[in-house]
Amino acid sequence: MTSQVSIAPRFGTGTVVAPMPDASSFELQGIAKAFGDLVLFEDTSLVVRRGETLSIIGESGCGKSILLKMMIGLVPVDAGKILFRGDDVTQMSADGLARVRRSVGYLFQAGALFDSMTVLENVGYALREHKRMADEEIRARVIECLEKVNLDRRILDQWPGELSGGMRKRVALARAIAVEPEVVLYDEPTQGLDPQSITVIAEMIAELQRDLRITSVLVTHDMRCAFSVSDRIALVHERGIPIVGSPRQIAQSNEEAVEEFVREALDELDEDEIRG
Ligand SMILES: Nc1ncnc2c1ncn2[C@@H]1O[C@H](COP(=O)(O)OP(=O)(O)OP(=O)(O)O)[C@@H](O)[C@H]1O
Ligand SMILES: [Mg+2]
Repeated sequence: MTSQVSIAPRFGTGTVVAPMPDASSFELQGIAKAFGDLVLFEDTSLVVRRGETLSIIGESGCGKSILLKMMIGLVPVDAGKILFRGDDVTQMSADGLARVRRSVGYLFQAGALFDSMTVLENVGYALREHKRMADEEIRARVIECLEKVNLDRRILDQWPGELSGGMRKRVALARAIAVEPEVVLYDEPTQGLDPQSITVIAEMIAELQRDLRITSVLVTHDMRCAFSVSDRIALVHERGIPIVGSPRQIAQSNEEAVEEFVREALDELDEDEIRG
């Protein structure tokens, strides 16, 4: 694979190079996507900068989950390019896509875990598949990831069906970060959780970015989370992304889409909950 930017903040290689400011991680250029008459995106562009936490917000059904799936080639685009480290995901072979997915952790909206696998097997799945680590190493890494999301190692041998919804979500998060990805795409990581778990997860996302310089793309309906953890927020509206800015810039904007979609939620936040 060739890359337009000659930096490599990869993990597990022994060296971690700090990302260049403003270098891009993903770059969506002129994307179009429709399902029959349902047009989700027309000529839409967006840059995800390396090392940033970017939240994508917008009303239900506007295409946020589809956008994430297009970024890792799970759903094809109708037109446009999606560059990851300079290579076009929309043109990649299965091998190329597999390489992208090794660098990009993905938390599905449903938080889907494999029901027939224990917590240890779920979180360790990609380590076994992609990294060919030994069992003891996998176990140690899984325990470390569980600790990052405040889960105890005693659940290692439990089945997903035995856990609460909030715990399953955290196990799914542990799985998304297990391979030490360069980018994590989170689709509604706090949906259906109690307030305490929401805080834990929001803090965890902020910590991953700060400590490991992981680039995070966060799709969320939770405005408190979006406005407190993000460097920038992108608002999907009317088949495009008309607004991208820091939480503070968005809070101060009087664009119609902002008034329509975020003003009410913003009014419930305290000043110090808005970043930037
Ligand atoms: N494979 C598909 N075939 C047809 N329509 C689809 C398909 N996948 C998604 N859609 C439709 O595309 C639209 C956007 O879906 P998407 O899941 O991206 O919305 P969303 O913004 O994530 O919504 P939510 O906030 O409720 O999760 C929805 O109306 C959905 O029904
Ligand atoms: Mg969705």
